[in-house]
Amino acid sequence: MSRALKHDIPGADRRIGEGDVRAKGWAAIFGDDADAARPLVVEIGFGRGEFLIDLALAAPATPHVGVEYSTKRVLKMARRLARAAVANVRLLDCTGEIVVHDLLAPASVQEFWINFPDPWPKKRHHRRRLLQPEMVRALAERLVASGSLHVATDHEGYADAIDAALAGEPLLENAFAPAPFLRDVPGRRATAYEVEWRAEGRPMHFWHYRRCAA
Ligand SMILES: C[S@@+](CC[C@H](N)C(=O)[O-])C[C@H]1O[C@@H](n2cnc3c(N)ncnc32)[C@H](O)[C@@H]1O
Repeated sequence: MSRALKHDIPGADRRIGEGDVRAKGWAAIFGDDADAARPLVVEIGFGRGEFLIDLALAAPATPHVGVEYSTKRVLKMARRLARAAVANVRLLDCTGEIVVHDLLAPASVQEFWINFPDPWPKKRHHRRRLLQPEMVRALAERLVASGSLHVATDHEGYADAIDAALAGEPLLENAFAPAPFLRDVPGRRATAYEVEWRAEGRPMHFWHYRRCAA
């Protein structure tokens, strides 16, 4: 992180590096800003960040982690957090894959939120999609018992693949059963992308799966 970027935050800088997590662990990283005994809430691909800020404000004692591989978006979100004085969030400028596989311990997460992950519509790019069966297994393993995995997409082709991966994971059970997914979730806040895509009439798909008790 350059000095210019570092100093361009109007308050506390909530960005952390992968090395910080490896060296200190999550409890030390949050310190007094959240209750270290509570499992984490993690949003992967937070985009403009409004959804994560609302989650964090609604549960001020819970440690929240935002993961986003656009450095520009992480910087903008760091500014928003500083302006809003939200203390219980930390931001990681890296991929969801790295965070899930390397930085989160088994049974350490209460909720994962993955809202409108990039669909990579071309067949030759499908392997770049975040949600693959191996990733769904890794996410499930990191959830505490009854912890939640929330996923949303507007893309029909990706929806079929996501639905198959979630339904095929034995560590998870569908909280929306018997429906495979919902088109609308009452009370759910719309993300920035969702607002744009709903205006275009794109079809919404929302999943909520829970980690089965061991
Ligand atoms: C389509 S946007 C959705 C943003 C936001 N969740 C929303 O619904 O408004 C996808 C976001 O995920 C980020 N992203 C895509 N793949 C990622 C990955 N593997 N790890 C972390 N972030 C990722 C992109 O940079 C982008 O900000």
